[in-house]
Amino acid sequence: MKRLTEFGQLEDPSFSAAVIDWQKSHGRHALPWQNTRDAYRIWLSEIMLQQTQVAAVLAYYARFLERFPTLHDLAAAPSEDVMAQWSGLGYYTRARNLHACAKRVVDEYGGVFPSEPALLADLPGIGRSTAAAISAFSSGTRAAILDGNVKRVFARVFGIDEFPGVKAVEDGLWRRAQALLPLDGIEAYTQGLMDLGATLCTRSKPDCARCPLQDRCVAYATGRTAELPVRKPKKTIPEKQAALLVVIEGGQVLLEQRAQTGIWGGLMSLPEVDGHAVRGALAIDAVAPLAGAFGEVEAISALLPLVHVFTHYRLHIAPFQATLSRRADLAAPYLWWDLARIDSAPLPAPVKKLLLELTAPSLF
Ligand code: ADE
Ligand code: SF4
Repeated sequence: MKRLTEFGQLEDPSFSAAVIDWQKSHGRHALPWQNTRDAYRIWLSEIMLQQTQVAAVLAYYARFLERFPTLHDLAAAPSEDVMAQWSGLGYYTRARNLHACAKRVVDEYGGVFPSEPALLADLPGIGRSTAAAISAFSSGTRAAILDGNVKRVFARVFGIDEFPGVKAVEDGLWRRAQALLPLDGIEAYTQGLMDLGATLCTRSKPDCARCPLQDRCVAYATGRTAELPVRKPKKTIPEKQAALLVVIEGGQVLLEQRAQTGIWGGLMSLPEVDGHAVRGALAIDAVAPLAGAFGEVEAISALLPLVHVFTHYRLHIAPFQATLSRRADLAAPYLWWDLARIDSAPLPAPVKKLLLELTAPSLF
């Protein structure tokens, strides 16, 4: 395949030729917003189609145009009427922007939509891709679209293995989109990309057997249609540290009733120390005096650390076992519990597991 050239130059004319040929024979030709240059009708369809599929849009589109046949009718209508006509389509910001946009086109452009994509993109509710689509369909302007469907097609065809939501990756996709534009036939090309993304190169189970881009598709060639486009990376969840004290005397372990709110609210647990105080090589030296508050420490040792994953963070638990030769006088929230019946204690799962492993008879 040919290399990407500078912005605006033709990268590989066979790409757009394949899309245009396919659109002409297999694309959609009879949608109510096609076969017109009426910017009002095209604009309305593109806004409705931003977050709603064709099948759901059709009836709304027809009713909307019946109620507001021209841009002037829409601009002059009370906003309640506009919202009522939109009711059921969802994403109501679109309807508010639609109405605001109609008024601005009447006020600033005498009721005639500008044909320049940059001017269109300055109007409410019209982003860069929608501006390009309106401009291409209503005046044949060579402008690149890059909606979610087109991003998916490009990510697969060119094997883009980075998340397209990252600015630098998206910028690269825009440059490709621009470079791939045909010199002629922008309408069929734009519609073809939309139709490909909506009917063949679908999110799951793309119909590669019928695809006009199959012979140049990296995802198809490498069996990665299910992996591309790369999904949004999961947010990295914060890490927290805690030290837990397993204080043991006379076959009993010291438990602490936790507060009703917060993690493990209302359960019992082991006395807990903020992990920041006890990290590193000197951890045990930091823990020893804390354990000393519960009595006279005979021996102290570090147990194997464990990790517990909560919804909002990952807790690294460093357990320490302290054996006492004498108990201090302790009141609530502390209490002693028989290790032999630790199974019946209201403990969080990872803490119970830790104590059960500690008390399990050794195999050796
Ligand atoms: N989705 C967005 N614009 C579209 C169009 N013009 N035809 C079909 N689906 C679309
Ligand atoms: Fe999409 Fe398959 Fe076509 Fe590649 S070959 S563009 S994955 S439909």
